[in-house]
Amino acid sequence: MDYFRHKDGRLWCEEVPLDRLAEEVGTPAYVYSRRTILEHVEKLKTAFAALDPLVCFALKANGNLAVLDLVRRAGAGFDVVSGGELRRVLSVGAKPNTIVFAGVGKTVAEMEAALRARILGFNVESEEEVEVLAAVAARLGVCGGVLIRLNPDVDPKTHTYISTGKKESKFGVDIERGEALARRVLELPSLELRGLQCHIGSQITTVEPYAESLAKTVALADRLRPSAPSLRLVDMGGGFGIYYKDASAPSIEAYAKAVTPILTGKGYRLILEPGRVIVGNAGVLLTRVLYRKTSGDKRFVIVDAGMNDLIRPSLYGSHHRIWPVVGAPPPELGTDPDLPLHDIVGPVCESGDFLAKDRPFPPDVKAGDLLAVMSAGAYGFVMTSQYNARPRPPEVLVHGDRFAIARRRETFDDLVRGEEPTPTLRRLGSKGHAVRKQKIDRTSSKTRGRGTKPERKAARRVAAKATKGSRTTIRPPERGTNPTKKKK
Ligand code: LLP
Repeated sequence: MDYFRHKDGRLWCEEVPLDRLAEEVGTPAYVYSRRTILEHVEKLKTAFAALDPLVCFALKANGNLAVLDLVRRAGAGFDVVSGGELRRVLSVGAKPNTIVFAGVGKTVAEMEAALRARILGFNVESEEEVEVLAAVAARLGVCGGVLIRLNPDVDPKTHTYISTGKKESKFGVDIERGEALARRVLELPSLELRGLQCHIGSQITTVEPYAESLAKTVALADRLRPSAPSLRLVDMGGGFGIYYKDASAPSIEAYAKAVTPILTGKGYRLILEPGRVIVGNAGVLLTRVLYRKTSGDKRFVIVDAGMNDLIRPSLYGSHHRIWPVVGAPPPELGTDPDLPLHDIVGPVCESGDFLAKDRPFPPDVKAGDLLAVMSAGAYGFVMTSQYNARPRPPEVLVHGDRFAIARRRETFDDLVRGEEPTPTLRRLGSKGHAVRKQKIDRTSSKTRGRGTKPERKAARRVAAKATKGSRTTIRPPERGTNPTKKKK
């Protein structure tokens, strides 16, 4: 479902013609449909209504503040994976008790910020993480909510890079370890076991893997519950598929139908962590044709958006439909028109810089024509870079027949911010200013984000166990600090 329509010989986003919009905002540019985003949140809430769902939008898919504000107003919470994401959602007024914090490598500073904010829960992924989290919570004198992230060893049948629920993946703990870890959490007074979580991958286009992994998760929750009355949450993660090339992804209702019976009557509250399904089909990337050329038998269309603007085709070989904004309507989803094959490539100096390979494409497209790269609202802008010193494109939010710049186009100043052409040299440990001046975000100046003595002790215990007699001291890592630096 989306509000991009071809009518009157051009592509529209809601009631805005995209050729006119491109004239005003330039290209490349991301354009999002507000109504599409809102309807997806609504659909999720309705389809899973029987399970009292908390929809935690995974903002790794799209972290623009205007988008976050929109989904928050629609009643969604958030699934964050870093201190930065936590700050983003808090800055738009997210309620802390609607936030879950995931990720295999949370730092002490990130834990501290999230504990202080009183988030609903940490999706913990290892025994060592639990010990450090418990120590941080104890120091702050707060109780940290915990969900154990399980790895159910289920194959979600998706791209290996976005498959997370198999035994060999780095995420979560297997069911047996998960049970032991849950029992350990129950012993720790500074933590409260609130639930179990399971996320098996992304762009999953069948319902069975969800049913299988959820059944395993609920079975463990049932086993734990007699000794864990606070265990009330079952979090099935995100991963619902969307349409890119064809319409093979199940509807939101179909996912709901598959999992509802597994949870019905059990008394758990369901958490969902959807990202792509909310924003993926709600966004397009507009790009203009710069040149055409032929090399041997190969036809190229060279456009002004590159792999730095949308990396999914280069990184995963993902398919995004691409079609001229003005002219004949695009082919139906899932059909390949009988047209000559083209590579649609960007200006970046890499052979891997392409938006589409061997794509049937109108041969009469010429320099200056505007193209829409469809289904680019998820993992599009968030994965952009400035590679080749290319400023990032703007993000535009369409609302009916109006639009707003939700993020302006970057400038040269943005490209060089924080850089020094002649940086000052200094000796280690001296009071230099270059890095220090940047003021790395620390939630507590007292602990410098490395944690207090007991926390460092907990981390050392963990490290000592792991290194068995090695004399190396391992402290909880803190992004941006030098853990080997001596305390003054
Ligand atoms: N929860 C967890 C723990 C996750 O790791 C993810 C995505 C989600 C929720 C949201 O999944 P979604 O509903 O969006 O499928 N960059 C890749 C996708 C990476 C997904 C990472 N984790 C891409 O462009 O396809």
